[in-house]
Amino acid sequence: MAGLIPQDFIDDLIARADIVEVVGRRVQLKKAGREFKACCPFHDEKTPSFTLSPAKGFYHCFGCGAHGTAIGFLMEFDHLSFVEAIESLASSMGVDVPRSESDQPARRYDELFSLLDTVARHWQKCLKETPAAVEYLRNRGIDGSTAKRFGIGYAPDGWSNVLDKFGKSEEATERLLATGLIIRKDNGKHYDRFRERIMFPIRDLRGRTIGFGGRTMGDGEPKYLNSPETVLFHKGRELYGMYEARQALRHIDRLVVVEGYMDTIALARNGIDYAVATLGTATTIEHLNRLFRLTENVYFSFDGDRAGRKAAWRALENALPQVREGRQIRFVFLPEAHDPDSYVNEHGADAFVQQLDSSLPLSQFLINELASQVDMETIDGRAKLAEMARPLVNRLPAGVYRELLIEGLAEAVGLAASKLNKIIAGGTTHERSRYSGAVTAKKRPSTLGGGKPSIVRRAITLLLNCPAAGVDLDLGKLAGVNRPGVDLLAALIETVQSEPNITTAGLLERWRHDDKGRHLGKLAAAEIPVDEEFDTAAELAECLQQLAVARRKERIDFLIEKQTVTGLTDDERSELRQQR
Ligand code: UTP
Ligand code: MN
Repeated sequence: MAGLIPQDFIDDLIARADIVEVVGRRVQLKKAGREFKACCPFHDEKTPSFTLSPAKGFYHCFGCGAHGTAIGFLMEFDHLSFVEAIESLASSMGVDVPRSESDQPARRYDELFSLLDTVARHWQKCLKETPAAVEYLRNRGIDGSTAKRFGIGYAPDGWSNVLDKFGKSEEATERLLATGLIIRKDNGKHYDRFRERIMFPIRDLRGRTIGFGGRTMGDGEPKYLNSPETVLFHKGRELYGMYEARQALRHIDRLVVVEGYMDTIALARNGIDYAVATLGTATTIEHLNRLFRLTENVYFSFDGDRAGRKAAWRALENALPQVREGRQIRFVFLPEAHDPDSYVNEHGADAFVQQLDSSLPLSQFLINELASQVDMETIDGRAKLAEMARPLVNRLPAGVYRELLIEGLAEAVGLAASKLNKIIAGGTTHERSRYSGAVTAKKRPSTLGGGKPSIVRRAITLLLNCPAAGVDLDLGKLAGVNRPGVDLLAALIETVQSEPNITTAGLLERWRHDDKGRHLGKLAAAEIPVDEEFDTAAELAECLQQLAVARRKERIDFLIEKQTVTGLTDDERSELRQQR
């Protein structure tokens, strides 16, 4: 088996790759100032919103949100794996890819894929040998051929079945750990993650197993246990059943997004082969990108309870920027106390399809949901609705759909569309974050990906845009700073300081397989107002300074508070004297 590709080689390759040439050979590009524009190859469009920045080595589509480096582009456009994309890029530049013989088996993806596959097959065999598990599935309406199609298995009782069978050497154990199949205890010993559970393999579009979900057959907690995030498995990106849908259907006319493994399987069992499930997470923008790459028509069918409505609203928020002519986004609300699984088993496939056909278009769901938040009988209430709709409408790309939605809203609030249009246009982009959900009353926690831009986020954005500006930063300023994203910021600074020539694209590739880095692409795409005067290095230093000052203030406040409550230790007292 080939060894790992050395990181230096990847960094260097990316630094030297000409993204304009890589993309330009596949897509017609037009120069626009320091950047290039094109009609986005990843979604249908007539006016170009695909932008390429040679300086950053990075592309970004303002229409569908696709973004990435030359490597990412090759992966998406030519449907290559990461390693294949590197090989393709290297060969187009006339260089050979070196392989280090370094002994890091856990990072050899092929070996990890094959391990997951072997374990999946082992568990399928165990299922056949466990009548109680077969009986459980049968009681839930799943027959042998459906179980086979989804590769359903059973992990027997016991703390070390997988460990003993597949972890015979130290390297094998490391691989089990890297795939999340076993867990390491504090004392260094290991045990099986999945015990006494029905196992659902989660596969990527190529049919390779990347993780598992496991359901207890009884009332044990948790009901479902999933693989942790690994190099191969990212919950917020994967949709359960996508591969199986693609296998079953030549042309995917529509996809239904459901909440659970069992929903996907029950629908498939009933001949509805186009249901995919999020894996216990909200519908993300990455999910939507994947869905719309396969079909134009996406339906969301969540549970008929409050939580389901909330989940639908979250999906709506993320779907807004994806709205286009020709695309349909609809919402299905099953009767209370039903999920798609129970519904299709009780009422049959035709009834479910009827639910799909009579589902709410996105615009209608949006208007209904907002209307239910206000008193539509009063002028105040209707004005409030218009106000609440503004940030949402502003997330829609301009076009016919947006006009239609505004018309629908205008009718609901009893205003002329032209007047409402003015109100909506009056909103600035800053207001987008003010209203984060009609159903989700509680405030969304601020993450790197959304919410109010924090100092940490700003620093990361600056650093990504201009890595060289981070070379002289004083990392010490971040000592003790405890805010979301600060670890990532520190890691980025360290990388930049040890590799002063690294580019934006190089940084992004380093974090490709890291869950923390999932938002980096978005931040790299953010435009920093750069004029001649703008000094990124100074600005970055200022961010770090602000973090250090805030940290010192918090510490002083804490010490003063402690002084009056429990008193201080000698060390703390002298610290307080110095800090002041
Ligand atoms: P549900 O609780 O709606 O379960 O969770 P379900 O799919 O209807 O399951 P059954 O019918 O009781 O078997 C929906 C999804 O949320 C995730 C799983 O992906 C599940 O399919 N989930 C749920 C977890 O990850 N852990 C849990 O403990 C529960
Ligand atoms: Mn269910």
